[in-house]
Amino acid sequence: MRPGFARWLNSTNDVTRRFLAAGRIRGLINIAGGLPAPQTYPAAELAEIARQVIADHPQETLGYGPIDGLPELRAAVAARFSRNGLEIAPENVLITTSGMHGLDLLGKVLLEPGGLIAGHYPTYLGAIDAWRPHHPTYRTLLLDDPAFDAAAGLAGARFGYVVPNFSNPTGRLVDLVTRRDLAAAAVATDTWLIEDDPYGTLQYDGEPLPRVIELAGTADGPVAYLGTLSKQIAPGLRIGWIIGARDLIDALTMAKQCTDMCTSGVTQRIALAAIEGGLIERLQPAIVALYRERRDALCAALAEHLAAWFEWEVPVGGMFVWAVARDPGLDTDRLFAAGLEAGVCVAPSSVFDPAGSYRRALRLNFTLNPPDRLAEGVRRLASVLRKMEVAA
Ligand SMILES: Cc1ncc(COP(=O)(O)O)c(C=O)c1O
Repeated sequence: MRPGFARWLNSTNDVTRRFLAAGRIRGLINIAGGLPAPQTYPAAELAEIARQVIADHPQETLGYGPIDGLPELRAAVAARFSRNGLEIAPENVLITTSGMHGLDLLGKVLLEPGGLIAGHYPTYLGAIDAWRPHHPTYRTLLLDDPAFDAAAGLAGARFGYVVPNFSNPTGRLVDLVTRRDLAAAAVATDTWLIEDDPYGTLQYDGEPLPRVIELAGTADGPVAYLGTLSKQIAPGLRIGWIIGARDLIDALTMAKQCTDMCTSGVTQRIALAAIEGGLIERLQPAIVALYRERRDALCAALAEHLAAWFEWEVPVGGMFVWAVARDPGLDTDRLFAAGLEAGVCVAPSSVFDPAGSYRRALRLNFTLNPPDRLAEGVRRLASVLRKMEVAA
């Protein structure tokens, strides 16, 4: 008999694959995935940049490149994020093949089997999935609790993991005081703290808050900052970066060597041209305006059709509304399955819980669909809920 597959596969799920595949099912309204609106992709501009960079740099774009990234791109990222007193050298930057790749690499270099991750749960399912092969254990950082003690929360952990800007899945913004506490505690306890920030540029109300790594005051300390171009330009570029201490960047480079050898030279050169040419700044106002309108449309549809079953807060940024069932017995795993039958795909809360047992909430995405589709998706969900009630 052939040997079986690795044990960690028994504890995972294929929800991400189903979310991504949902886009291809005809008639299905996908309000599950964290997908940008395709109309925001600057296709013509990227096509021209791609042609130009391959013509100008054939060897660099089409050959193998340095594992840690194109030196000019590392320098550009270092310069872009050096602010509020934070000084970043190119050696503090690793270019990754997207944010997801960065999370995988961090698990590889920071986790031992059974190692403790102090996280802000529910949290990004991709991170939970990336770290599953190391069989980690989990401690919850109760960031909302007024008595939250960041040092006690981080003590003894292999690392802490937070998404301070409009968290996935809850859309929650971590306030300034808590950011300060986290930064100070990471430094005081000398515990790695991963600040994952794919959504920072998608802010619809209020002013941006300083990054945790800025509050820590050094790129050579325990805070590692993850960024990506996925939500700022296009996820198909698969370009991300980790800013962190040089020894961490060296360790991550060792892990990257046996993961992808190097990030695509084509997309790194495109990313560099995009950053240098101010593409992100030019795209941002239209993206923010479009997503703000869609957030408002989703929240209005929820208020009209789902308020009997769910409550939620209007997120000030990001891509998601987190809707918590009023009835603690409502099982959103069942709602997910029944929703698919009825032509609407939503994300059940269990997949954002490392234990897989929290089944009372839904993550709803508002960026992919226009207002009328969002409203229709919510109406379908309401009719599924009515049928579930009748059946109960
Ligand atoms: C919190 C968080 N981190 C990281 C990622 C990874 O994004 P990418 O791999 O496209 O850079 C995502 C994507 O949705 C996310 O929500």
